[in-house]
Amino acid sequence: MDRNKGQKKYFIRTYGCQMNEHDSEKISWILTNMDYSETESMEEADLIIYNTCLVRENAEIKVYGNLGALKKLKREKPDLIIAICGCMMQREEIRNVITSKYKHVDIIFGTHNIHKLPQLINNHLKTGKTIVDVLEDSREIVEDLDANRKYFFKAFVNIMFGCNNFCSYCIVPYTRGREVSREPENILSEIKELAKSGCKEVTLLGQNVNSYGKTLSREYDFVDLLRAINEIDGIERIRFMTSHPKDLSDKLIEAYKSLDKLCEHLHLPVQSGSNRILKEMNRKYTREDYLLIIKKLKEAVPNIAITTDIIVGFPGETEEDFNDTLELVKEVEYDSAFTFLYSIREGTRAARMKNQVDDKIKHARFQKLSQVLNEISLRKNEKLLGETFEVLVEEVSKNNPEVLTGRTRSNKLVHFKGDKNLIGTMVNVKIEEAKTFFLEGTIV
Ligand code: SAH
Ligand code: SF4
Ligand code: F3S
Repeated sequence: MDRNKGQKKYFIRTYGCQMNEHDSEKISWILTNMDYSETESMEEADLIIYNTCLVRENAEIKVYGNLGALKKLKREKPDLIIAICGCMMQREEIRNVITSKYKHVDIIFGTHNIHKLPQLINNHLKTGKTIVDVLEDSREIVEDLDANRKYFFKAFVNIMFGCNNFCSYCIVPYTRGREVSREPENILSEIKELAKSGCKEVTLLGQNVNSYGKTLSREYDFVDLLRAINEIDGIERIRFMTSHPKDLSDKLIEAYKSLDKLCEHLHLPVQSGSNRILKEMNRKYTREDYLLIIKKLKEAVPNIAITTDIIVGFPGETEEDFNDTLELVKEVEYDSAFTFLYSIREGTRAARMKNQVDDKIKHARFQKLSQVLNEISLRKNEKLLGETFEVLVEEVSKNNPEVLTGRTRSNKLVHFKGDKNLIGTMVNVKIEEAKTFFLEGTIV
């Protein structure tokens, strides 16, 4: 749907993960149906929406800062509607802060009731009051929501919602509720529609995709779903986010060998290399379990790229625990990794742990870990020099209008010269330069 046709204008800012990004695409679709069009300028907007994240403190602080700055705008333009949604709004104590200290906010809604937005806007317009509408948890999946997707050639597709894992540091189970899987028929028909409209790549979204199917009324698991998607004409690449090591099956490892569209990349968050810390984190696997999965994967798919998430400075982490993480990183040889300083999240079990790590030590470990990871990334990228890869062309580089960027099946970012008409197509690129975070090459 054309998001630039509506009379009124909305501005949306998204914080956090792909789940939120995709929720914002759904909100955008809803608003387009309400005769709104998107604007990149807050000053121009009739409606401003912040889709928030609570996973770490810095995400939260950013929202409060940006929200404060909207006060002036609202004063100058009293008809402006300000709405906040997303993970922060699932927490009552945060809603209370917003309603008491940020009185210029007009609408508060949550992660389970995006579909009610038109009703909430109308209620606000009718009453002039602040509307707060949040569902604490919901097993109901609203299927009739479409999305205004950012790219026509690649798409996020939800396969499940929520999380049951309760890793002791993590707030997500308290914001996204209990795990629930979408019916395969609904997922497959969405992907078929996407393929018809030119989509080549799908990224299946869930907090723990390996446990897909557990809430369905029949036997059907993640690999069954992958097999069915692999049959859909037009789809050329299948990706997924995120996997939990405790549920990663041999069946999935085998699937990499038999499913030609499944991309040679796995994002497998390890969080820590220390068994003691993994236990405290409630991750339910050991370092040895994790390394065994990696060994099997590399045997099955020798060119697979492996990426991860790591938390530094979890409560009680000693120098020895941290060294275990460094050693694991060197053994796995990650292609890249997201590293995070442990952040206290009120309401989680780890927040109540007494032995919080000193900030200075956390930062020093973070620096050391980043350095080791970067050296490995560069070394792995240098091994690709001279090779040619299929690249899905994504966009024009922000720094150079003559340069295009795209991704290999292994999810490596590649820069190369080319015409912007190539966006959305597959090209072959020969790698000529290797950097830590991307590759450079020429179309051949
Ligand atoms: N469901 C996914 C992603 C969860 S959030 C998964 O399990 O992998 C993404 C990442 O944020 C996590 O993998 C973790 O590394 C990080 N994270 C979550 N809570 C955090 C906290 N309190 N402090 C620092 N990092 C955190
Ligand atoms: Fe958070 Fe763990 Fe669930 Fe991931 S699996 S969302 S880290 S609780
Ligand atoms: Fe995602 Fe942040 Fe929510 S990481 S699930 S938007 S808390």
